[in-house]
Amino acid sequence: MLRLNLTNILSERIGEQGVDWPGALAAHTQSLEAARAALWQRKSDPAEFLGWIDVPEDTETLRQVLRYRQANAWVQDLVVLGIGGSALGAQAVSAALGKGPVRLHFVDNVEPEPILALLRTLDPHKTLVNVISKSGSTAETMAAFLVFRQWLELGLTDWKKHVVVTTDPAKGILRPYAQAEGLTAFEVPPSVGGRFSVTCPVGTLPLAFAEVDLEGLLAGARKSNEQARAALEHNLPAQTALIHHLFSRKGKNIVVFMPYSTRLRYLPDWFVQLHDESLGKMRDRTGQEVRTGTTAVRAIGTTDQHAQVQLFREGPHDKLINIVRLLNPSENLEIPAVKGLEALDYLFGKSFFELLDAEAKATAHALAKAKQPNYTLTLEKLDAYNLGWLLQHLMWQTAFLGELWNINAFDQPGVELGKEYTYALMGRKGYEPLAQELRAEGVE
Ligand code: PA5
Repeated sequence: MLRLNLTNILSERIGEQGVDWPGALAAHTQSLEAARAALWQRKSDPAEFLGWIDVPEDTETLRQVLRYRQANAWVQDLVVLGIGGSALGAQAVSAALGKGPVRLHFVDNVEPEPILALLRTLDPHKTLVNVISKSGSTAETMAAFLVFRQWLELGLTDWKKHVVVTTDPAKGILRPYAQAEGLTAFEVPPSVGGRFSVTCPVGTLPLAFAEVDLEGLLAGARKSNEQARAALEHNLPAQTALIHHLFSRKGKNIVVFMPYSTRLRYLPDWFVQLHDESLGKMRDRTGQEVRTGTTAVRAIGTTDQHAQVQLFREGPHDKLINIVRLLNPSENLEIPAVKGLEALDYLFGKSFFELLDAEAKATAHALAKAKQPNYTLTLEKLDAYNLGWLLQHLMWQTAFLGELWNINAFDQPGVELGKEYTYALMGRKGYEPLAQELRAEGVE
């Protein structure tokens, strides 16, 4: 179960830095209802990229993914070639819940040394390469694919069995290539954007090899869908979106996402991409310049209590902090008593989980004492169901915020120009005039 504790955003707790609740919720009923209506109404149009809402209902695709996993029991290493939304979801969930024996590797950058180091550790006979690109054209992913494909072909006679493609059913160069070569291919639904794709084969295929309970993950995501349909008092994503909206209006331009869990260490990376790429926009839906967005920052508790919390407490009042806490451990560890170290007797006989939990609560309260707004999402425990719920919750939160700010949360026009410049610098055909322009501007 996912729950919201918003005590530390209330004005009765943090004074003028805070907000009144449920007054604020009541005051925004109309805009939140309008946001919800707009999302449900646009959902049937694939061009609106709201397909992620229905993906968790698609049990047939999940069955295909599971069948593929079962048919490939020989795999010892799975290499995911993908970047951004095509890697971060599976990376976050596999770090949290993945079990052996298959080792997962994510190649999401084009720095040569780590790729070479990885290749040196792999045996092509035991390696499956999952190339994931919705557009089927991302330079980083395609470059890695060219290298891994060649490495497989040189090392094997049946290399095609060692490649699985995840891409758009129609667009891009990967789909026709997979067809021509007879490679197994899964679909990224056209209506699902990269950063919203963790519950489709972009996420589920690698996660099947990590032995994650995918039925549970999708059931959790469906639970969040249920909440997003509920009345506002029970609608968690609408509520957290409103919290973000209210605090951005109060000048909190930084959003810290801080799970108290090492297993959730990659979740902030996934959240940062979801939040920043979706909500950092220059123009609203009418074309007017608005420059929306708050900057998401990663932190892990308790680790970053010893790195960032000093700033969070005593630095500028420009942050909203979202703590994520687990209510129950899946395993626990007792702290032993040791003679001669009685100065530590407050720890003797307590559990690690107790300490972790005390630190999460203590930090939240210490932040509130410094008038630093923070709210906590609690997960009953870290399993596929609760994590699926949290992931879908954060996608809904992003979608609601996009509506409140009247922007398109599902495109990313701001990253296009950098891509074009890269093509020009790399000598891609058709980009000669741009290359010339770059040279004139001193970029070579
Ligand atoms: O969220 C997004 O849309 C992006 O981060 C993409 O996932 C990323 O750019 C990779 O794109 P593609 O899957 O087309 O290679």
